[in-house]
Amino acid sequence: MNDRTLRFKVYRRDPGARETEGRFQEYTVPWWEGIKLLDGLRYIQEEVDYSLAVRWSCRIEDCRTCQMRVNGKVVLSCQVPLEDNMVVEPVPRYRLIRDLVVEFGEKMESSEYAKNEFEI
Ligand code: FES
Repeated sequence: MNDRTLRFKVYRRDPGARETEGRFQEYTVPWWEGIKLLDGLRYIQEEVDYSLAVRWSCRIEDCRTCQMRVNGKVVLSCQVPLEDNMVVEPVPRYRLIRDLVVEFGEKMESSEYAKNEFEI
């Protein structure tokens, strides 16, 4: 068992609860070999704060539902190693549903937008 932890900030906002302003919440999770950002977010959901909204599906770099912006760059959270001091936000320019979940709709499937924004 190691004692290493990772600390990072996650954007929180619930428009459904009429929250007009977003905020960043800091979380600390245990480190383990190969931990990805999505693993850290799932750890938070399961062990720390079940109210955090995160979307994913395949975990194999196929569905792109796990896209989010990390330190200003759009990434697939299932593929990016979790590191200290990351700032995690929802993908910009889509309607925010809650926290890190946005309404992709058909645009994610068919447009060049996702391809242009998608960078690791
Ligand atoms: S969960 Fe499907 S691409 Fe990340």
